[in-house]
Amino acid sequence: MTEEMTENRMEDMRIKLDINNMFSDQVGKEGFSREEIDAYRDKALKARENILKAKEEGKMGFMELPYNQKEIIKELKETAEKLKDRFENFVVLGIGGSALGNTALQTAINDSQYNLFSEVRNGYPRLFISDNVDPSGISSLLEKLNPEKTLFNVISKSGSTAETMSQFLLARKIVAEAVGEDRVGEYFIATTSRDSGYLIEIAAREGMKQFYIPDNVGGRFSVLTPVGLLSAAFTGVDLEKLLAGAAYMDKIINERDFWDNPVLLNSVLHYLAFKRGKVMSVMMPYSDKLRDFADWYRQLWAESLGKENDRKGNKINVGPTPIKALGATDQHSQVQLYMEGPYDKIITFLEVENFSEDIEIPAAYEDLQGLGYLGGHSFAELITAEKKATELALTKRNRLNQTVKVPEVNEFTLGQLFYFYEYQTAVTGELFNINAFNQPGVELGKNYTYGIFGRKGYEEMRKEFNQSPAHDENLIL
Ligand code: PA5
Repeated sequence: MTEEMTENRMEDMRIKLDINNMFSDQVGKEGFSREEIDAYRDKALKARENILKAKEEGKMGFMELPYNQKEIIKELKETAEKLKDRFENFVVLGIGGSALGNTALQTAINDSQYNLFSEVRNGYPRLFISDNVDPSGISSLLEKLNPEKTLFNVISKSGSTAETMSQFLLARKIVAEAVGEDRVGEYFIATTSRDSGYLIEIAAREGMKQFYIPDNVGGRFSVLTPVGLLSAAFTGVDLEKLLAGAAYMDKIINERDFWDNPVLLNSVLHYLAFKRGKVMSVMMPYSDKLRDFADWYRQLWAESLGKENDRKGNKINVGPTPIKALGATDQHSQVQLYMEGPYDKIITFLEVENFSEDIEIPAAYEDLQGLGYLGGHSFAELITAEKKATELALTKRNRLNQTVKVPEVNEFTLGQLFYFYEYQTAVTGELFNINAFNQPGVELGKNYTYGIFGRKGYEEMRKEFNQSPAHDENLIL
């Protein structure tokens, strides 16, 4: 770790959750009373107990990651140090949980112009995360990169996701044409399950370097495995500090009782809010660096909590819809709706207390009343004032909102944030009594794709697709 994280330093860097504006004393009848929330104390503590029991049974792999990766971290760093001078570009091929964490990490920690300027890269390669199969997107990227100077990290836990494997096939062809079939393996790293799927088989055939995704860590919970950590290592992110942040948050969640436990309380608040018709969960960072974190959260919350059945098989169709917004930008796009639309949302602000840079707004046109007041203030002051103003306005309009205060955006706070929301997802899943760790809906879509493409074993899906009712021409306008 580059910086010594003393107890005091960790406390200074602790993220904090302000839930004042979830209660009726602030937002009137839309809000909760202390008693209503307290009635769920035992349920929340029981949820944590169940999660810790499942952890003991080896079923909560994401909770082990802050502690069990010493050797892996060493190998990730060695790999990055060994290869960073040889390659100008590091390209992640992955989708969903195999891509979103990489993007969140990159944009939070590194300079926003990281790819454009070598002086901010400190000798590390450029990073591209290709998480779609839009032909124009993928061709415009792959056609421009010099294949001899590009290292690909193919990330797929299942080792068979159509989007990722198609991208791999294309990248492989380009590399093979440039360097020859027998050297393909040097240009790819496979990050996948150790024991199953096609990617591991291909990696062995081609002699690719391999990193593994533990079986007990689901895709959307895998940012702190080599899935997110390898690209982070290749851009100079401090991996130890990231995991230290996650471990710090783990301790807080596991040791604290209910009323001083941000994750247990927030899980109850979100659960009860959903039951009361607050079916949308907006995450609105006032920080460009945390914009993609909100995107990562969107997948975590949606895939984990959007479920048809509870654990007993009852049809319940639950799941708050996560929405991503960016402050202050979306004040000019979304906030009108949050302020005056249906009372169906909780808004979570992410507020950065200290920005890594600040600049003064130059004073000028002081004679123009509506402009002169800006000069002399700083941009950090402005964005913070905008957040506080929006928060107050929403509160006055009786809209449930809360703030996660992030002392600085760095590896330690980001590690806390990832872990906070992963644990919160697990607890909220317990409260809904659903399996937060599967994704039958995603699988169904994947399987239809396999059927349409004629993959062996998916003939039934193909048949179903071919037999689906034709679209009425009159309704295509
Ligand atoms: O969270 C999940 O499980 C999914 O979003 C997966 O990450 C996504 O479907 C990609 O799957 P895979 O890593 O198997 O290619």
